[in-house]
This record gives sequence, C-alpha cells and structure tokens, in this order.
Amino acid sequence: MAEKIKIIYECQNCGAQFPKWSGRCLECGQWGTLKEEMKDDKKISDSIIKKISSSEIVNLAEIEESKTIRLESKISEIDRVLGGGLIPGSVVLLSGEPGVGKSTILAQLSDNLIKNNNQLSEVLYVSGEESAAQVKLRLERLKCNLNNFKFIGETNLEKIISSAIQMKPAMLIVDSIQTIYSALVLGEAGGISQIRTVAVKFMELAKRYNIPVFLIGHITKDGQVAGPKSLEHIVDVVLYLENDGRGGHCVLRSVKNRFGSVNEIGVLEMTGRGFVEVKNPSSSFLEGNWSLSFPGSVFSCVVEGHRPFLINIQALVSHTVFGYPQRKTSGFDLNRLQVLAAVISKKQKLNLTSQDIILNIVGGFKTNDPALDLAVSMAIISSFLNRELGGKKAVLGELGLGGEIRPVAYLDMRIKEIEKMGFDAVILGEPVNLSDKKRLLENFKKIKFIFVKNLSEAIKILGDKIKK
Ligand code: TYD
Ligand code: MG
Repeated sequence: MAEKIKIIYECQNCGAQFPKWSGRCLECGQWGTLKEEMKDDKKISDSIIKKISSSEIVNLAEIEESKTIRLESKISEIDRVLGGGLIPGSVVLLSGEPGVGKSTILAQLSDNLIKNNNQLSEVLYVSGEESAAQVKLRLERLKCNLNNFKFIGETNLEKIISSAIQMKPAMLIVDSIQTIYSALVLGEAGGISQIRTVAVKFMELAKRYNIPVFLIGHITKDGQVAGPKSLEHIVDVVLYLENDGRGGHCVLRSVKNRFGSVNEIGVLEMTGRGFVEVKNPSSSFLEGNWSLSFPGSVFSCVVEGHRPFLINIQALVSHTVFGYPQRKTSGFDLNRLQVLAAVISKKQKLNLTSQDIILNIVGGFKTNDPALDLAVSMAIISSFLNRELGGKKAVLGELGLGGEIRPVAYLDMRIKEIEKMGFDAVILGEPVNLSDKKRLLENFKKIKFIFVKNLSEAIKILGDKIKK
C-alpha cells in the first residue's frame, strides 16, 4: 500500500502539534500560529532496529578529568557573561532587538578572541542579511583585523555547513538564524521546523568539529526569541543584548549557560567605534547627578548576577486628571508597582487611588530585584508627601503585604558598594539575628544604619526630616 502523507498542524510559537486546525493554539494560547506541516509517518520496525549499530556505552567513573579550556577575549564584561570565556564547540544564541548591536558585539568579540588566543585563526561570518561590503565596512569601523575574517553571503544551510567543514574556521557566526533554511525540510526560513533543523545542524557541526558557533536571533515585539522556545533548549548558551532605547547603556545578559552561572550581566556602551566596557556601572547608572535630592528620588542597590549596582529610583505622584489613575514604569515591574501602591494605600492610609504614579529607574537599568520594594515605596511616598529623603542615604528592603520589611539577600555586598560610592547612611529592614546586626555594625563603621521594622517606621524618617 502506498504510504500516506499525514498533514498535521504545528504551532509556530510553542511547537505543539494538532491533527486539526484551529484559530488558537490550545497549548500556549497564541492566536493564528497553527501552520500546516507534512509528516511522513514511517514507522521504524524491529528488523530495522536490529540492523542499526548500537551506541558506545561509557562508564562515567572511568573518564579522565579534562580541564575545560576557556577562550578569553579580554573584554571582561563579555567574558564574565560567558562564564569566564568561550568554550570550544559551544553554540551561543545571541538575541536582541533590531539595531541594538548584535552584529557589532560579535564582530568585536571574535576579533578579540583571535587576537588573544594564538591557536585561533579565522572567523567564518555567514550573513543572510548583509552583503560582504556592508560587513567589511563595519569591521573596518570597528578596527578589526580584516585578515581574520572570511565571509559567505548564503542562506542555504547545507552549503554553509559544507563550507564550514572545508574551511574548519576557529569560529562561525551566523547572522541571523531566521534567514537560514534547509533544503531538506518543508516550510519557509524562520518557521519552527526550519529554525529547529538549522539549530540542530549547527549544534552537530559545533560538537563534531569543535567549532564555537554564534547564532544571532531576532526577537519578537514581546521580547521572545522569534521562533520556538525549543531553540533555547537546543543551544548551550542564550544571551540577550538589551538597550534602554534612549542611547544609554547596553546590558548583555545570560539567561541560560551550560558552562557557567546564569543571570550574569555585562555593561557596555555603544560609541562611534563599537562597544566599550563600562568599568564602573554604579556611577554611570547614577548618571552623575546623584547628589541631587528632591521629593520622589531615592537611591538603592540591586544585585544582578553577582554584581551590585547603585541605582536612582524616581517617582512622580500627581493627581489623576482622568477618572482612572495611571501607573507607568520604566525599568521596574508594573505589577509589583501596583502591589506596592496597594500596600501603601491600605497600611499607611495614604490615598493613592486618585493619584497617577510614574516610576523610573535612571540610566535605563531594568531589574526585578525584590530588594527594591522599600526604595520604590519610599520614592512614591516621598513624591506624594512632597518631602525629600535628603542626605546621602540608600534604601534596601523587601516589602510584605502587611507592610513589614524583610531583610534582603547579598546584604554585605550591597552595603560595600553603597559605602564605596560615598553614601553615609542605609535604611534597611532589621536583621532577624542579633549576630547579623552586630556583624554589620562592626564591618561597616563608616555607614550609619537606620533599621526599620515596617513601612510606618520608614515613613517617619521622611516625616522627621520636615520637622527639623
Ligand atoms: P548592528 O550591530 O548592525 O545591530 P544589529 O545587528 O543588532 O541589528 O548596529 C547597531 C547600531 O549601532 C547601528 O544603528 C549603528 C550603530 N553603530 C554605532 O553607533 N557605532 C559603531 O561602531 C557601529 C559598528 C554601529
Ligand atoms: Mg545585524
């Protein structure tokens, strides 16, 4: 009997498969993402299985420990995000909005990797988006050594793989994965089956020939890597390059790393000659005006990855003109702001229900560190009451729904940074153990600690200020 070709419907967002078409994916809830796909239904029979040679079984206890080599680019902001350097044979997915600098950062990274590692020779740059001349222009602008780069303007996966196997480059850059298609798979470039096949093939190439592969991925409007989430499962490392959109700093974030810690961040700044490292992010996120004090402005310290950053939170609370009060944030979670505003209204009897609240983290920093709760609440109250916190004070603490203030993680690291930046007082939740309190007071003699148990005590600090 002739084999029947089965038609299935596959969600382009999550990869779920259905026998019938519907307007909405039942798995992920997205609308209009089901696309028709062919599936040949060949069953592997027992007789075929017997013919296939079996895989080698390895005894893990007998494996000799090998030291992993890490290739360093000496751009420490990037090396740290990669977990201390690039692992040969790894596949790194770099995504970010159009124009954020993905092509730029990879050109600089690969050029520096070659300059700093004698065993590395040439990079193969594959682009389905730009011509050789455009790529050359960028490399010249970045002062990269052009002899280190070879280029192919190709979108066919099989041709790219074959060229890579012939050339055996020290590194392969694919710009971008959404433009590459395999002739062996149905569907247009960028579709779920194409993207998955392309990623798996590059993974095979990386592992077999020990070539590190960088895949550039576009992201959709809601900030996801375009194509399936399963792409992130296939690759070894997933990096996001973000910009606040106002020409501020770029933050390189690792969200998955099989060879290092996740949630590491690197801070970079785009200049006329590409990215430069921002050596002291705390002072740059404060944007030079940190001695400025006005109602609604509060300083705090967040920890991203394993690094503390001092940030300035600014709140503007003003009477609602329209019936419905507005809540707007930049760099902070909107839902968290709603919760904090509700706690303030209920516990402090400050009526925020007829007030618009606008919250901004200066310098384009994005964070959801819970240690900011108290600082955000104090910024809102400070603006509402029109009383400034004053002095060089930083605020740390997580806020509970009952208005209680809880101690925060990485406290010593944060206070060290606060002290380093010249602050002289910290308002924070009372430590649970007396020994913790003693230790803080002994270790940080220059800082004045103002311990508070709940929001009311914190507000008194604003109140006391005005009486003087
Ligand atoms: P690009 O790396 O092409 O972004 P992506 O690949 O993420 O789409 O370039 C990002 C932007 O940066 C582009 O608008 C031009 C600008 N740029 C500089 O400001 N300085 C530079 O040295 C370079 C190379 C680009
Ligand atoms: Mg690009």
